[in-house]
Amino acid sequence: MTTIDLQAKIPNNVGLADNRQLQRALEHWQPAFLRWWDEMGPSDFKAKNVYLRTAVGVDAQGWAQYGYTPMPEYRWGIFLADRQENRKIGFGDFMGQDVWQEVPGEFRSVFRRLIVTQGDTEPASVEQQRLLGHTAPSLYDLRNLFQVNVEEGRHLWAMVYLLHAYFGRDGREEAEELLERHSGDPDKPRILGTFNEPMDNWLSFFMFTYFTDRDGKFQLKSLAESAFDPLSRTCQFMLTEEAHHMFVGETGIGRVIRRTLEVMKELDTDDWHRVRNAGAIDLPTIQKFMNFWFTSSLDLFGSEASSNAANYFSNGIKGRPDESRFADHVETGTSMTIQVPDGNGGVRDEAISVRNGINEITRLEYAKDCNVGLTRWNMGVKRAGVPFEFKLPSTRFRRQVGAWAGLHTDLLGKPITAAEFEARKDEWLPNEDDIRFVKSLMQRVTEPGKMAGWIAPPDRGINAQAVEYEYVRL
Ligand SMILES: [Fe+2]
Ligand SMILES: [Fe+2]
Repeated sequence: MTTIDLQAKIPNNVGLADNRQLQRALEHWQPAFLRWWDEMGPSDFKAKNVYLRTAVGVDAQGWAQYGYTPMPEYRWGIFLADRQENRKIGFGDFMGQDVWQEVPGEFRSVFRRLIVTQGDTEPASVEQQRLLGHTAPSLYDLRNLFQVNVEEGRHLWAMVYLLHAYFGRDGREEAEELLERHSGDPDKPRILGTFNEPMDNWLSFFMFTYFTDRDGKFQLKSLAESAFDPLSRTCQFMLTEEAHHMFVGETGIGRVIRRTLEVMKELDTDDWHRVRNAGAIDLPTIQKFMNFWFTSSLDLFGSEASSNAANYFSNGIKGRPDESRFADHVETGTSMTIQVPDGNGGVRDEAISVRNGINEITRLEYAKDCNVGLTRWNMGVKRAGVPFEFKLPSTRFRRQVGAWAGLHTDLLGKPITAAEFEARKDEWLPNEDDIRFVKSLMQRVTEPGKMAGWIAPPDRGINAQAVEYEYVRL
């Protein structure tokens, strides 16, 4: 097991003390990161003590230590999963060869782009969520928001470490630019669309952590397969933290639904006006938010047919999530089917090589994983005796990237005209009224154990603490 230097200025298990040049470069970046956190991180909670989990090791016990910390004093560190002796490349043309401890020259720019793109999403989400602390529905939720924020900050550190350690001067420049682009900035926006979407309410936050952090999970799983071993080990450890972000999303949405069902039962109604008047979020509005964030996250996987993805796969740069589950790891001459517009207002099948279809394979795995939560939520709805079922839209709906970009379909993915879409979009996606209503519910609750009226309490607290625990000392 790798030794961890927690006393260092930058806690790490990568032996930073033995590499003075790298250590100096990262210590130089550190104040810039803290300045960014100060300006773009959670606003107005700097001095407050938050009950946070800090990674102090990468083994089962070590990586989760709990205690009160003001966020700017969080110990952001660099942690890679332990090195696996004799690890071999698990897919593509170099299958079976030793993994790489350095980046091969010919793949340098591709790896740099992938790492920068992943790295860019981490601080972007912190920026998006900057103001949410002011409207947290409970101290428990406030703490979870901040936990997610500090861990996204650590994920930025993880990517910046790779840039500094393996990409020389170019990498150092990219690391600086990661702090210069900002979510929603018209001049210097974040790289990916979803990460520029405004986030001004907690329903969107729960949707984001459920759907968009889950995209993160699949990207990290694909990168964890990489032949570039330090990238693989970095992503393996990030996945342990990512699981908590999706937990926040899944339990958050589940609690909103549970509260709505309680109100419907109390009032004995399924009239959404009455549900809203009672201060809960009606089920159709929750569905619309799902439609929005699910489809927005689908675009993050890229085009259905992609020669870039094929190139990543062939060269061992980026694999499929859980590559070991597939029978064929080389995929030469194999094909698969994707659905594309037939140019006549319909859908047709198209055969492409599996290598070209890696994005679509990953996207469909992701959609399957998203459905797990819906099945659970629908069980609750059914148990309450309410005739309603949450459903994810087709992966062709509302796409901005790939074969279906800019085309109009209904929720089932059936192509429709722009006029038909316009006429029905208020039923399918949050409209101004829905957003205004959801925002009107966002009132801050600060008494330990108390919840806002639109969300049920969690089943249990954090780290075996009570729900009533003072998770943030305001
Ligand atoms: Fe992350
Ligand atoms: Fe995350």
